[in-house]
Amino acid sequence: MKLTVVGGGSTYTPELIDGIAGMAGVDGRRAGLVVDEIALVDPDASRLEVVGAFSRRLLAHAGHPARVTTTADLERGAEGASAVLLQLRVGGQTARASDETFPLVCGCVGQETTGAGGLAKALRTVPVVLDIAERVRAVAGDAWIVNFTNPVGIVTRALSQAGHRVVGLCNVAIAFRRWTSSLLGVAPESVRLEHVGLNHLTWETAVFVDGVDRLPELLERHGDAVGEHIGLPASLMRRLGMVPSYYLKYFYEHDEVVREQRTSPPRAEVVAGVEKELLDLYGDVSVVAKPELLGQRGGAYYSEAAVQLVHSLTGGVGVGGAAAAAGAGAGAGAAEQHVVNVRNDGALPFLPDDAVVEVPAVVSERGAVPVEVPPVPASVSGLISHVASYEHLALDAALRGGRDRVADALLAHPLIGQFSVAERLADELVARNADFLPWV
Ligand code: G6P
Ligand code: MN
Repeated sequence: MKLTVVGGGSTYTPELIDGIAGMAGVDGRRAGLVVDEIALVDPDASRLEVVGAFSRRLLAHAGHPARVTTTADLERGAEGASAVLLQLRVGGQTARASDETFPLVCGCVGQETTGAGGLAKALRTVPVVLDIAERVRAVAGDAWIVNFTNPVGIVTRALSQAGHRVVGLCNVAIAFRRWTSSLLGVAPESVRLEHVGLNHLTWETAVFVDGVDRLPELLERHGDAVGEHIGLPASLMRRLGMVPSYYLKYFYEHDEVVREQRTSPPRAEVVAGVEKELLDLYGDVSVVAKPELLGQRGGAYYSEAAVQLVHSLTGGVGVGGAAAAAGAGAGAGAAEQHVVNVRNDGALPFLPDDAVVEVPAVVSERGAVPVEVPPVPASVSGLISHVASYEHLALDAALRGGRDRVADALLAHPLIGQFSVAERLADELVARNADFLPWV
């Protein structure tokens, strides 16, 4: 099968290639995802050249036969693809630095996916991604779109509403599964998470190992380690009886985070430095393995999540579909259950059907169907509803434009919520992003 990566010049691409390369050489049963061609599509020719050449070296070193093609031409890159991964960043790290700083003038958190910064990113990104998806549909109508482009919830909702075959993906759940399994001393594949919420607004409500919920034990024995990992106190998690994702610190410790942000460089600056070093490493022909440095990026294990998801969505094309999936190692049945972003359709009964939620789902060639979600406690259901309403308004602003729609979305965000603040941030956001907003 052909796999297309839009934003293929990203420094994250070798993470994905490494995931695919890791499937070579293992016995035929685990080599579930049979990829013949990986097409990297990117407008940045110099990055594409470096990342493309490094990707070829990674695959060759692993003995994987897939071809890597590179192009700036989306139609050419997507033609005949079975799956198309979207991993782009409109405006690059420069726009991200703006998202991470402008809300601070009003005492609001500066973050690329949460709060006013997340709205700015959504407004820049939704029109671009919708255009890409339309063009992909014209040349690869049956392809599944795997959306890793942030803000994943809003962007996936936009694609889903436009009728695309899309599943949204984030690495938070898979990274947590890996990390917890090491604390519990079990294999990651034996861990099944009960995970609920919206993208970057999720809680783990149970951690099943062989059918037993080990979450209470995790909080009892490893509470401090987990707390340090996600940046929130163990006492909060014990009281909630759940583990929030590290994005919840922007809510539960909002003012503290703002204090820290006022005196430290934005994450975009740090990442720009890491990216420069990564590109140097990728350009060094003696480097034939994924550099350790890539582990410093937030998207670690993205490859694992993406490769497994594409495998399920394409039904194990080329190796006998279901049989191959069933043989997918220790994960077997569980290998087809993934935490994804998908249309709600009643999974969380207190949200509208057209909201996009992040929950475990059974994934096949027919798409992702959420597994039954246990009732969500009142301690978090209000916040989920609140942010889902904001996301609805954010998408409306992205699709129809207009400065007042931007202000309305900000007013509806639980981390903003005050009229004078929303007004000021709306003007600032529009002024800073004017070049990227089709309606300005
Ligand atoms: C996590 C999130 C991604 C986000 C990334 C940022 O992986 O799930 O959605 O893009 O962090 O990582 P970075 O290294 O760019 O700060
Ligand atoms: Mn994410």
